[in-house]
Amino acid sequence: MTAVGIDAIEVWTGNLKLDLPGTFAPQKGEDPEKYTKGLGLNASSFPDSYEDIVTMAANAAHRLMERKGLEPDDIGRIDVATESAFDNSKPVSTYVAGCLEQVFDGDFHHANKGERKFACIAGTQSLDDAYNWIKAGRNRGRAALVIATDTALYARGDAGEATQGAGAVAMLITEEPGLVELSTEQGYGSADETDFLKPNQQFPSVDGKRSVKVYLARMREALEDYESVAGDVHPDDLAFIPFHTPFPGMVRKAGLLGYRHITRDTAIEDDLAEEIGRQPRAEAFDDEESYHDALREYMDALKGTERYREWYAQTIDPTLEVSREVGNWYTGSVHLARTSALKHALEAGRDLAGETLLVGSYGSGAQAEIHAETVCDGWEAEIEALNVDEQLAARYDMSWADYEQIHDAHNHDMDVDVEEFTAPDAEFVFDGWGRMGERKYRYVD
Ligand code: HMG
Repeated sequence: MTAVGIDAIEVWTGNLKLDLPGTFAPQKGEDPEKYTKGLGLNASSFPDSYEDIVTMAANAAHRLMERKGLEPDDIGRIDVATESAFDNSKPVSTYVAGCLEQVFDGDFHHANKGERKFACIAGTQSLDDAYNWIKAGRNRGRAALVIATDTALYARGDAGEATQGAGAVAMLITEEPGLVELSTEQGYGSADETDFLKPNQQFPSVDGKRSVKVYLARMREALEDYESVAGDVHPDDLAFIPFHTPFPGMVRKAGLLGYRHITRDTAIEDDLAEEIGRQPRAEAFDDEESYHDALREYMDALKGTERYREWYAQTIDPTLEVSREVGNWYTGSVHLARTSALKHALEAGRDLAGETLLVGSYGSGAQAEIHAETVCDGWEAEIEALNVDEQLAARYDMSWADYEQIHDAHNHDMDVDVEEFTAPDAEFVFDGWGRMGERKYRYVD
């Protein structure tokens, strides 16, 4: 069977930064540790006034294609996943192709382009589409370009405001990939939920507390569904578990729930039993409430064990390192988590080839998906080529007044012109409006 997966990744962050403990917390009258320890975030990325979902997507794709020595003729499909689209008809991928045609010889007229929407899980769904297209043999030797791009902005004053972010992740999907091979096995947890939605509005309507519960419930279903096809998952078999990361504190909860689930009926549960007892079983309780109380108590104890803490530090924490500095990138977030883990492994000199990642994607509304990925030989070269740290360090650190202006500048209901805070350098920029209301873009050397 041909291996299909991600051959290369590129990341593009918005060029601005909001310091959460230093700038945001004092304005909100909150303890800075609510953000750094509670939510697990140090900063958010924002788009400068000349940036948007198209520029970030095109910039990530441009870097990816240049680095891999690709021409438009090598790409048979461009899929953009986003929940920040500004057009109900013309897909963002057409704008991205238009940008790329400004800097490459040739065009993308032969390429199938589309846009995927299902909240934050659409990036993973686009990976699926590309995988299926290649597996079906319809790609004529060409690769797919999948780009997840979002400006995750909330209304000012919304509880989600602390979790904002902006950036794009571009992925090249090929046969015989150089980074990770995707598993055929997948698990889903999907239900009609109203936890987070944008009914023809820019900023989301969010029931934040409920959204956390829905995330965990759907993720658990997806894990059970995955195990029904791939067999039981064991914690020691996984190098990393990149989860969708709206904020690292969410993943802290998902990691704990996942660990309890996958250690049930294993030697790990037996070992831990001496210290914290065995996991509660529903059949031992008269009613659901007392069962849930017992589960909560067990989880609290589990969280404090040395065994769990070590596993979390090795398997989950490295996936969160970049997210802590950029916030929620919606569709790109889980793909950033994978990148963060691989970057961590490279820096630690860890040999990951042949090891397994379990990837937990999620989108509100709501759906979770779990699949496995096998790290390919030569993965180090792909990760070494990234410049994530340089990009993060180069961001302009906004004052509170800057932040207020830039939030207004990106608010579709406001007509505010804001001077750019950074100077674009070898990147695509928004260049005003065309005669039919289309957005125009230009490459700045
Ligand atoms: P909040 O209500 O302002 O915060 O917003 P909180 O009071 O719940 O505090 C957050 C955490 O900080 C808590 O930890 C506090 O205890 C802790 P927890 O108990 O949950 O473990 N804390 C502190 N820790 C240390 N020192 C302190 C301190 N103070 C408090 N001084 C909320 C939280 C999640 C509701 C908000 O950020 C929100 O609405 N976010 C947007 C929705 C969201 O991100 N939901 C996540 C799941 S849904 C999802 O992932 C999908 C999404 O990406 C969209 C899509 O799919 O398209 C959002």
